[in-house]
Amino acid sequence: MRDKIVAGNWKMNLNFEDAIQLATNINAWVADNHPIAQVIIAPSSIYLQTLLEGVDEQYVKIASQDIAAHEKGAYTGDVSAEQLDSIGLDFAIIGHSERREYQFETDEIIAAKLKQAFKYQISPIFCVGEKLEERESEKHFEVVKSQIVNALKSQKAEDLSRLIIAYEPVWAIGTGKTASPEQAQEIHAFIRKVLNDEFGTDVANNTSILYGGSVNAQNANQIFAQPDIDGGLVGGASLKYEDFTQIISACK
Ligand code: G3H
Repeated sequence: MRDKIVAGNWKMNLNFEDAIQLATNINAWVADNHPIAQVIIAPSSIYLQTLLEGVDEQYVKIASQDIAAHEKGAYTGDVSAEQLDSIGLDFAIIGHSERREYQFETDEIIAAKLKQAFKYQISPIFCVGEKLEERESEKHFEVVKSQIVNALKSQKAEDLSRLIIAYEPVWAIGTGKTASPEQAQEIHAFIRKVLNDEFGTDVANNTSILYGGSVNAQNANQIFAQPDIDGGLVGGASLKYEDFTQIISACK
């Protein structure tokens, strides 16, 4: 059985006090409601240690929103996998489309980041997804396949047991447009086939594949009901306690 996961990517939102308050409330809700899904929240890096100490890891896991591509050294502003591991962090979002776009992350850089994560036993939430023009020209399967193969082909086979994939069509992120449940299922099944063909049946069957892109309390039920969708990576709606807890409940 694959893990069901609902992860909240807070992106560059919330001040310190609001971040602690929201994390504390989510922790208490999970403790009371025992959802099936593993709940993960990804705050800005300056809050990671405080939130790691402030939530109970049996209820809520904390993830970084990125990881450095290098081991250590003169990389001003970067945070390494070793440093994240040293504060007890177990999850990291890697290759988010906003980093691909604004920080010019390529598949090669993302492969290096994944390698660092695996080296320090951090489970990556590895993001893939096509842009609007790629979907409109029906290149989305090709684009997503190459993102996956390019980033994973150089990883050690045994490390792939830690892999989590998030499929996030760029045109659905923060736009209010979501892929229909059928569109999402179609490409999630395709991703699982790529994993099967390239990395074997165990990786295909055991990798949780999350959907991301304007998931909200209204559409989560239908999206999460699809057989190859194992949960969600939620942006905007993860900043609102009511919405996020309803989304977690929808993941069964
Ligand atoms: O990481 C989360 C995604 O970018 C989705 O963001 O739910 O605000 O569309 P969104």
